[in-house]
Amino acid sequence: MEIFIDTAIVSEIKEAQSWGVVDGCTTNPKLIAMANVDFEQTMKDILQEVHGPVSIEVTTNDFEPMVKEAEHYNKWGSNVVIKIPMSIDGLKAVKVLTEKGIKTNVTAVMSMKQAVLAAKAGATYVSLFWGRIEDMGYDAEQITRDTVAIYNTHGIKSKIILGSFRQNSQVMRALRTGAHVLTLTFPLIKEMAWNPRTETTINEFLQFWEEYKKTHVVNPIPDDADDDPRLKELMKLLAEYKRRDAR
Ligand code: E4P
Repeated sequence: MEIFIDTAIVSEIKEAQSWGVVDGCTTNPKLIAMANVDFEQTMKDILQEVHGPVSIEVTTNDFEPMVKEAEHYNKWGSNVVIKIPMSIDGLKAVKVLTEKGIKTNVTAVMSMKQAVLAAKAGATYVSLFWGRIEDMGYDAEQITRDTVAIYNTHGIKSKIILGSFRQNSQVMRALRTGAHVLTLTFPLIKEMAWNPRTETTINEFLQFWEEYKKTHVVNPIPDDADDDPRLKELMKLLAEYKRRDAR
C-alpha cells in the first residue's frame, strides 16, 4: 500500500518525505490556487523533489485541449502522471494518452461504475473521492470495496487511489479496503503518527530514565576510554559522587 501527499506546497512535501512515508504526490488546480504559487515552476520543483509519481491535472474538460495539455506537462519529468477528469471526453483522452505511453490518473471518480470505465479506457490510476462521496450520503467504504473486488476478479491493472479525506476516521476505514494508494493532506499524515497514549507512554519511560540517571552514570563513554586507565578512574569517581549526591 502506498501513501501519496495531496498538496502543492513544496515545504510540506519535503518535510513528509523526510519521514520516509511518501511514495508520490497528487495536485489539482484548486490545490495550486490555494497554495498561491507559480504553477509551472512549482510543478517542476515537486517533480524534482518527489521520488515517485506526481499527478498534474489538466485545466480543461474538452478532449483535444486535454490531450494537448497532457502532452505538454508530460515533458516536465519522467514521473509525471496526467490527471484527467472523469467524463466521456476524459475517457477519450485517457485512451489516446495510454496509446502514447503517457500515464494517467482519472480523477473525481464517485462510483464503482465510473471506476470500471476509467480502468477500461486504460487509466494507470483511478481516484475515488472518499470525502465527497460521503458528502453526498453514499457509502465510500462499500464503493471502494466493490471496486477493489471487481478489479481483482478481472485482473484489472489500474491502481485505485483514495483521496478527498476530511478526517482520520475516514483514513482508518480506507486503509482496510485494499485500495492501492491513499493520497492524504500533510496535516492528515502528521496526525496519523500521533496517539495520546504513545505520548504518555514515552514520557513515563523518560521520567523513569531521569530518576535512574540520578544514581547511575550514563554518559556515553568515548571509544578510546577503554584504553585510558585515567579516564576510567575518572568515570568511576564521577559515578561515586553522583551516588553520594543522590543519598
Ligand atoms: C485527490 O487527488 C484530490 O486532489 C483531492 O483528494 C481532492 O480532495 P477534496 O475533496 O478535498 O478537494
